Amino acid sequence: MPLSRYDICVLPGDGIGIEVVDATLPLLEHVTRGAGYELRFATHPAGALHYKATGDALPEATFTAARSAHAILFGAMGWPEIRRPDGTEIAPQLDLRFRLELYAGVRPARALPGIALPLADPRARDIDFVLVRESTEGLFASVGHGVVIDDREARDTMVITRKGSERVHEFAFHLAERRRARGRPGEVTCVDKANVFASMAFFRKVFDEVAARHPGVRARHRYVDATALDLVCRPWTFDVLVTENMFGDILSDLAAGLVGGMGMAPSADIGDEHALFQPCHGSAPDIAGHGKANPTAMILSAAMMLDWLSGRHGDPRLAQAARRIETAVDAVFASGRMLPIELGGRDGTAAIAAAVMGNL
Ligand code: NAI
Ligand code: MG
Repeated sequence: MPLSRYDICVLPGDGIGIEVVDATLPLLEHVTRGAGYELRFATHPAGALHYKATGDALPEATFTAARSAHAILFGAMGWPEIRRPDGTEIAPQLDLRFRLELYAGVRPARALPGIALPLADPRARDIDFVLVRESTEGLFASVGHGVVIDDREARDTMVITRKGSERVHEFAFHLAERRRARGRPGEVTCVDKANVFASMAFFRKVFDEVAARHPGVRARHRYVDATALDLVCRPWTFDVLVTENMFGDILSDLAAGLVGGMGMAPSADIGDEHALFQPCHGSAPDIAGHGKANPTAMILSAAMMLDWLSGRHGDPRLAQAARRIETAVDAVFASGRMLPIELGGRDGTAAIAAAVMGNL
């Protein structure tokens, strides 16, 4: 049922997270103005600087606000010099994934028109795949549970459950079905290491069971090492990929590199009840405070948020707003007049956001 108001919990976080969120909110306000519904933004504190000031990286009030909102818009959190006593960094994005069961990490990789790509092969212009990263278990099940024994040996344990695998594979097949309806091949590749690890053979077994329930979508298998090769040599042959948490962490940065870098790569962390939208990149301390951050990934993540809300609430108005943002972003780069600093150009956060606004 369409709503008249959608509550968005905004968590800007640290560094350029704050800068790209600031650049994106006015665009969301613009596309929804006069559209018959309201996006109501409420900003809450969390992140490394908040941890430094208060000892709490994700205050309970912030968590409650995130849980009760219709969607969460997230910048980036973390700061390399701010660490817990055990030496690890704070990572509220992981806490939110676990606690809100945001099991599907959705990482689209699409070559935007006009953006120079690292691959020389002209077929790289056809890159249009989505990597789905399982985000609640796998090797990350060990976060907070890793052990070091007598300064002699360290252990982290990979956990693959039937429930965790089934739901992420289902998600991948549904996504491939929706993409096929828009002219994509309709194919899911299970990326694993089933030749070596029992956990990965189990992940593949559950994949095959789910695949049997989706006869209209082609199911393929690929080992993760071979997938790393294919993602460089022939990334245009992929449609949807689904993989374990750690493999997905690594391959999603590779995927971002294929389409022009971290500032170009949007993402979503989606569960059955909640969803969080954030760029793939972190807080980028090396450029924070200089207005150099490329806001494109954040802007495209906001479009993904509108799309998800549209599907969830049966509200086509939000999908229309999402298309407007994506079309405006494509037009900005296709014109050849904007080149992010990240890609060797001169355009920073404000210039790119203003150009997108101009095309809305
Ligand atoms: P990073 O993504 O922040 O930066 C990696 C490199 O990409 C840097 O050279 C940075 O300048 C560049 N870059 C990233 N986003 C950019 C953008 N939008 N425009 C232009 N250039 C951009 O990753 P890094 O340096 O490993 O981590 C920095 C901090 O961020 C750490 O504290 C880390 O824990 C945290 N982090 C947080 C994430 C999250 O909130 N989801 C994800 C990744 C890292
Ligand atoms: Mg990462």
